[in-house]
Amino acid sequence: MPHFLIRTNSNSMILTPESFDEFSYKNTIYKIENCWHSSKKTLWEIYISGMIKSRTIFIEQKSTKSGHLFKIYKASKPEIDDGIKKFLQFFSCQIQGILNDADIIQNNLSSSGRFPPLIDSEYEMSGPIAQFVDWKKSFGNDKDLIVEIGFGRGDFLFKLRRFYPECNLIGMETQPKSVYLTKRKLMKANESGIKLINISALSALTYLFEQGSISKIFINFPVPWPKKRQSNKRLVSGEFVKIASNRLKKGGIINLATDSEDYFRMSKSLFAESGFIESSIDEIYKTEKIGTKYENKWLNEGRAIYICSMKKHAAVPQALSKKDSTEKDSKSAAPAEFAAAKEITLPDVTLKLKDRYTDASGNRQLYVIDAIGHNLSEQLFFDGKMLNVSTFVMLPSINAFFNT
Ligand SMILES: C[S@@+](CC[C@H](N)C(=O)[O-])C[C@H]1O[C@@H](n2cnc3c(N)ncnc32)[C@H](O)[C@@H]1O
Repeated sequence: MPHFLIRTNSNSMILTPESFDEFSYKNTIYKIENCWHSSKKTLWEIYISGMIKSRTIFIEQKSTKSGHLFKIYKASKPEIDDGIKKFLQFFSCQIQGILNDADIIQNNLSSSGRFPPLIDSEYEMSGPIAQFVDWKKSFGNDKDLIVEIGFGRGDFLFKLRRFYPECNLIGMETQPKSVYLTKRKLMKANESGIKLINISALSALTYLFEQGSISKIFINFPVPWPKKRQSNKRLVSGEFVKIASNRLKKGGIINLATDSEDYFRMSKSLFAESGFIESSIDEIYKTEKIGTKYENKWLNEGRAIYICSMKKHAAVPQALSKKDSTEKDSKSAAPAEFAAAKEITLPDVTLKLKDRYTDASGNRQLYVIDAIGHNLSEQLFFDGKMLNVSTFVMLPSINAFFNT
């Protein structure tokens, strides 16, 4: 039977049906209606009202040596479905929210033992088909959208609200408990203009946001997963950066704060490959500390904090496929002198051919050139004429590059 085991130092588990919010999943509402106590057990009555039929199930709670066990009461012969498991997950999050020291130490609600995201039903995904949320309708206005990924305890969302009172804020977080606790804090603060989504950022960006709809993305202290075999768990990946770039407006910004120098470098180079350039650090990072749990943790350990703000400078056309710049391709119409000039150093700047993209026919080329000088570190895009090059990059250097 579905269950979870919760450990808490609180002597009493003073919980009443009034302590809990109702939960909705796939057009069904789960509400704790009643609870009964015997000398050994507590029984919770859950009323489930859905589109098709309404019913009641019971959850049995008893003390064991290791903690408080909550499980579906078998004697009532309940029909178990995904919604019930999601509800139990939500119930456990609420208990952890009410009792500060409570931890889930065991559950059979997911095969991995870790709770998958609850998925806010309002923003539920349906299959692989994109169903973008109409954020204007959802917020009731068309203010700029700012997104924070992995908000943890939610402290930075409150800070974003102070710094950007004129923007709509959305938090994305995979941990159901963090979402639940932050939602409670928002409700206590009467803050209704911040929306939380309990799914992974890559899915949220892919399915819920239209192209060019986000102004800023903030990522504070993502887990760096430093080992090579863990690299697929990193939030910032090539795929993530591409989709984030597509969902950001032109000139939109991704902000990253991390304690890992390697992660910082790796992320910056992925951003640069997708057409981002370094911009001045966002104001929110300049005036005071970031103020999150993980910033405090790393500062207390004496670690350095690395911060960057990367601006979407030029979108790499999605239809173009990337080719190794060293690859010899007879179909490509790359000018011979260009292919030869991989790197040149001029008095003011070093130019380096970084990447070459070509379209399916091989007729259209896009070159990415790193320009590194005393005062600049830029990426240039060249497809025969200059594209999106900022004004202070001098064309004579580019001409010299192609004439070398
Ligand atoms: C190290 S914590 C940092 C939390 C918070 N930003 C801070 O500075 O204290 C990383 C957070 O990112 C969340 N997270 C990890 N992968 C995620 C993803 N793919 N999408 C959204 N959140 C994610 C984790 O659940 C966790 O809360």
